[in-house]
Amino acid sequence: MNNFISVYDVPDIEHLVQQALSYKAAPFKDKMLGQNKRIGLLFLNPSMRTRLSTQIAARNLGMEAVVFNMDKEGWKLEFEDGAVMNGTSVEHIKDAAPIFGAYFDILCIRTFPSLLNREDDYNEVLVSQLMKYAGLPVVSLESATLHPLQSLTDIITMSEFADIKPKPKVVLTWAPHIKPIPQCVANSFAQWVNAWGKADFYITHPEGYELDEQFTKGATIEYDQEKALKGADFVYVKNWSSYKDYGKVLSEDNSWMLTTEHLRGTNNAKIMHCLPVRRNVELSDEVLDGTNSIVTQQASNRVWAAQAVLAEIIKGGSCNN
Ligand code: CP
Repeated sequence: MNNFISVYDVPDIEHLVQQALSYKAAPFKDKMLGQNKRIGLLFLNPSMRTRLSTQIAARNLGMEAVVFNMDKEGWKLEFEDGAVMNGTSVEHIKDAAPIFGAYFDILCIRTFPSLLNREDDYNEVLVSQLMKYAGLPVVSLESATLHPLQSLTDIITMSEFADIKPKPKVVLTWAPHIKPIPQCVANSFAQWVNAWGKADFYITHPEGYELDEQFTKGATIEYDQEKALKGADFVYVKNWSSYKDYGKVLSEDNSWMLTTEHLRGTNNAKIMHCLPVRRNVELSDEVLDGTNSIVTQQASNRVWAAQAVLAEIIKGGSCNN
């Protein structure tokens, strides 16, 4: 594996899941694999789980992790080719990226979309330009459109309940929120579950919240939440803003907030959320604190997902400078 930007970078999902679970069982079994290698973690947005789990994963493999809060501590970057840089941007990505390439063996980047211009966001300019100019493996710590480390974690977590049934019913349900939220977690979850192919996969949301079909194709879209949740084995709760009416909040209907009432028709469903979560807006306290909530297990698995990805990249040899 050379990069980790989407599910399409992964030759074998099952192999990666098993790798992650083997690290969960024995975190330090490859503690020399990343010796004398350095990983750069660039953040343009806040993060708790992604930042900490990736640092721990790197350390477990013997790597040094350097965190750079680019949005607060770095120069403002320019991305436009041929730009006359007489405005607020100070450094062109063409100049900055090769420096990261010189300092690090693997480069990880976290950025969010503007939610103002769909074309710009969905073109993933920052990630693609880093890949173009840095000349080293790039790992997404969440981009404008996808969150692959989260999705791999989600697949790992569902795999830990493989005894439920061979092909569980997995439902991604939209939940209310107080502000516009990126589509990336939902896009990515849909992309990965579809590629995984081991679930009977449903997505439910109010009309107007249809995600980009490039990610959802293969899932059943059901606008009736109660119908969608019927018989569910896993319920993944997430808010996202509209893709069609880009970045807009179209519904504040709090009947979509997941409560114990909603779970009556499910198959004793396990409850998932990527966190952070707005309690009693997206999910009720009762559901989050209930025995079926697996959100902490899910967040803990972020370490093993990151460790498996970093290990595969190192073993792939493309980060040997
Ligand atoms: N789920 C997730 O990415 O969490 P953080 O934003 O805290 O990293």
